Amino acid sequence: MLTAYDYPIAKIISQTSLDGILVGDSLGMVVLGKENTLKVTMKEMLIHLDAVVKANPPQLVVADMPFLSYETSVKDGIRNAGILARHGADAVKLEGGEEMVDVIKGIIRAGIPVMGHIGLTPQRFLRIGGFRILGKREKEEEQLIRDAKALEEVGVFAIVIENTYADVAKKITESVSIPTICIGAGPYCDGQILVIHDLLGLSDFSPYFAKKYVDLKEIIRKAIEDYIIDVKESKFPSRENYKLKES
Ligand code: KIV
Ligand code: NA
Repeated sequence: MLTAYDYPIAKIISQTSLDGILVGDSLGMVVLGKENTLKVTMKEMLIHLDAVVKANPPQLVVADMPFLSYETSVKDGIRNAGILARHGADAVKLEGGEEMVDVIKGIIRAGIPVMGHIGLTPQRFLRIGGFRILGKREKEEEQLIRDAKALEEVGVFAIVIENTYADVAKKITESVSIPTICIGAGPYCDGQILVIHDLLGLSDFSPYFAKKYVDLKEIIRKAIEDYIIDVKESKFPSRENYKLKES
């Protein structure tokens, strides 16, 4: 899986064999320039979900539930998941384990598939104590496995595991029968997910667990410089780029 937040990228993904698209709340950081994902709203998620859905990708489209759209009550969670589904999401993802089963149960009861998300859950970075690897303490590892089991039990169709040790992610994967989709959690999972801006070389900051497949930042910068030079040297627009009324 990869994230996508707009129409042109979703169009390109449509032409690939990728399995799934996540309209992630990483949107806030990689597209909207915010410091963290606490600042992402439902309104912003819907604008970007709409753009991705407009590309009509054959892939499964999962939409992230932003901060405060599901923690306040089961009712709020169902309503906001419903709004994301009405806008074309095939499923929603929300952060948390055991403590979220009530709201997840409600959303699934309303007919909306839910993807879980455990490990480093960025919407909880304040409580976790920053963007750090989870599972170091014995207690944390046990909690991750309890969370995965609780999520499977309540009926999520897959679980994202973010930023934990590869051997811990392996144990989690072995302790549930639903697919685990990992980011920063090693190879012993059923699938992988990356933030597309990391893969494309467009992020300001890329974590060690991401892989840059192309340096688009450099390619774009060069294209802009070439354009400036062409305009200054009157090489653009050239004859094929304009029409004459009288010729
Ligand atoms: O918002 C996001 O991009 C995510 C992935 C990192 C799983 O939640
Ligand atoms: Na997210």
